[in-house]
Amino acid sequence: MKYLVGANFKMNKSFRELRDYLDVFIGKYACFSNVDLAIAPITAALSGVADLVGSSCLNLAAQNMHYESAGAYTGEVSPDLLKELGCKYVIVGHSERRALFHETDETINRKVRAAIERGIRPILCVGENLHQKDLGISFETVRIQLAEGLVGVADTSLVDVAYEPVWAIGTGRAAESSTVAQMHTLIRAALNNRHSRIIYGGSVNDTNAAALLEASHDINGFLVGSASLDAEKFLKIAQAASAKNISLQS
Ligand code: PGA
Repeated sequence: MKYLVGANFKMNKSFRELRDYLDVFIGKYACFSNVDLAIAPITAALSGVADLVGSSCLNLAAQNMHYESAGAYTGEVSPDLLKELGCKYVIVGHSERRALFHETDETINRKVRAAIERGIRPILCVGENLHQKDLGISFETVRIQLAEGLVGVADTSLVDVAYEPVWAIGTGRAAESSTVAQMHTLIRAALNNRHSRIIYGGSVNDTNAAALLEASHDINGFLVGSASLDAEKFLKIAQAASAKNISLQS
């Protein structure tokens, strides 16, 4: 299986900064045969970034989308447009969208299905918040998010899943690798396929990536926020994923 390492830039970087970033990144980066790399810039920059990425082996990802093709949805972006722009992936159900923009499991599920119908691969984000963790219901929370997010999805291998404990996002405190390993095992069992990548997100950086990957063969890459904003760091994280994947094959 190819691993997946995604850069979630969130609402960061001007277009000029994106251009500088990609200059550095594409200049230093020789494609990995065993890792898919995806960059998710601000939606308004997708078209320009698509041009910059060009024929390099970097993949384009969107941070969000609507589930309808077109209509009176001011401020939203259509999955058809994302497809036209060359997006291979879309992040769906990120915890910031759930918490700040009131996305529910039901709308997330509609987005997952709409993406699959367009041939865009959803990266479905799941993860417990601190309150749920303290209550000891992390597994149950993730199990429900996954089940609700995948209602009506006949072939779950068309989806990748990002386990992102909310308390680990942007805090500099990644989850313990043993916790991540347990959760990924649960997610793999729930998905019931061997092809989906189950990736971890939450304070991943160039110094903890390799150790996190060591914890389980079911950690198939990362979704990286803050550390992905630095091209050199993002590259190192991708290299760690590539090295781990090679070691598994040998
Ligand atoms: P972080 O964000 O790497 O800054 O913790 C991850 C994410 O939100 O996807």
